[in-house]
Amino acid sequence: MSKREFTQVPQEEILRQREFMRQVRELNPDRLLKYSISTFGCQMNENDSERLAGMLSEMGYLEAENIEDSDLIIYNTCCVRENAEFKVYGHLGSLKKLKKQKPDMIIAVCGCMMQQKDVVKHISRKYRHVDLIFGTHNLYRFPELLYNSINSDKSIIEIQDATGSIAEGMPIARKDGIKAWVTIMYGCNNFCSYCIVPFVRGRERSRNAYEITSEVEQLGRQGFREITLLGQNVNSYGLDLPENKGFAGLLRELGNVEGIERIRFMTSHPKDLSPELITVIKDCKKVCEHLHLPVQSGSSRILEMMKRNYTREMYMELAAVIKEQIPDIALTTDIIVGFPGETEADFDETLDLMEKVRFDFAYTFLYSRRTGTPAANSPDQISEDVKKQRFQKLLEVQNRISKEINDRLLGAETEVLVEGLSRNSINTFTGRTRSNKIVNFKGTNELVGMLVKVRIKKIQTWSLEGELI
Ligand code: SAH
Ligand code: SF4
Ligand code: F3S
Repeated sequence: MSKREFTQVPQEEILRQREFMRQVRELNPDRLLKYSISTFGCQMNENDSERLAGMLSEMGYLEAENIEDSDLIIYNTCCVRENAEFKVYGHLGSLKKLKKQKPDMIIAVCGCMMQQKDVVKHISRKYRHVDLIFGTHNLYRFPELLYNSINSDKSIIEIQDATGSIAEGMPIARKDGIKAWVTIMYGCNNFCSYCIVPFVRGRERSRNAYEITSEVEQLGRQGFREITLLGQNVNSYGLDLPENKGFAGLLRELGNVEGIERIRFMTSHPKDLSPELITVIKDCKKVCEHLHLPVQSGSSRILEMMKRNYTREMYMELAAVIKEQIPDIALTTDIIVGFPGETEADFDETLDLMEKVRFDFAYTFLYSRRTGTPAANSPDQISEDVKKQRFQKLLEVQNRISKEINDRLLGAETEVLVEGLSRNSINTFTGRTRSNKIVNFKGTNELVGMLVKVRIKKIQTWSLEGELI
């Protein structure tokens, strides 16, 4: 058996799940049952929730207006930081009363948090009103698990420890009609010393290029205009496939898909970013000028402890090459403050790197100790107070830089993909530039889904204001 066949869920198993979908639908012929899904964490989880929604739609469920009206409540969880877990426990606790009033209601919890044994133990002991627990590797088995849960008084727990396989051919119901997430690979092999993702998402495995292309072609036919390709480290796409075009090759291929006007992707690990990828962003018209390139820290000493496999100098050199090759590129990043052992001098190096690289935007995080990761065992944990002080400083520096970069756009003419009405407004529409900045402008409904030209008139902290040209 080749490596590929081994990681693909067999067709019989997919057919089996389709049969369970049919059986659940038979229990619910008038489509009276309603569901709600709450998603925590990254876009990968958002995309998984769209899969759950797709399966539920085939099983005759409709989306509920609110939690109280739901017959099925799902929490798709994240465990990358402790506060993501706290939120889930908070929600679960507050459902106890509702479950008493509506004993037939099913409460399900799934996602990354459930791939940790102690979490599952804790939930099954302390939150006895939870009916169904499953993980990230067996998401495609949801129809069977739901069927069993409907027909049983006991709670059902199914977690697969294995690295997981790829399930193709299951339904998906996307939230948006213009922009779509497309997962191209699952898992991560990097084991950065602070990060739990490789433990809960398993090893890297890539979807077949053929499956990805067919999905994107279908999205083009359905009227989607933009796709974002997802993976924890998209630059290593294809390394596990027998025929490997590499990530740059995949982008080139997707650049030919009719109907799709914009292609984005995340996340790129700096250690694996190839010169070929820079060329593709430059050459391929549909690939947008935006790169999310998490640096995590500006200190080589900390980067080494983080096991990131690059130094401060290597990152700065890479950023300089990218900016030189693609002058209008927007660079965004992730930064962790308060990694164990981070001194004031290390932190100053992070601030200095930010001043030198000048990111358009940075997602900043307080280091969170994750059981099972090497950094959690370090004796040099940083106090919450110090972390918060550093975080505040980082934010001030980044906000100033973001504003300075955006100020340069004043008066510029830019292409915007119109996404819809801006919140709380009747005639202000919202969309994004190719560099992923939000632009609000006065428009009309027919423009939704179209690429328009807008002149930037005003710079706000988190968005731009413009007028149609
Ligand atoms: N695969 C992506 C990121 C996935 S997690 C990458 O490597 O860039 C998203 C971000 O969460 C990470 O970039 C990191 O900045 C942050 N993160 C991960 N583990 C964390 C932890 N233990 N504490 C704080 N932030 C963390
Ligand atoms: Fe986590 Fe590092 Fe993998 Fe990103 S590359 S998911 S930070 S282990
Ligand atoms: Fe969280 Fe899992 Fe994503 S831990 S960040 S939801 S891969």
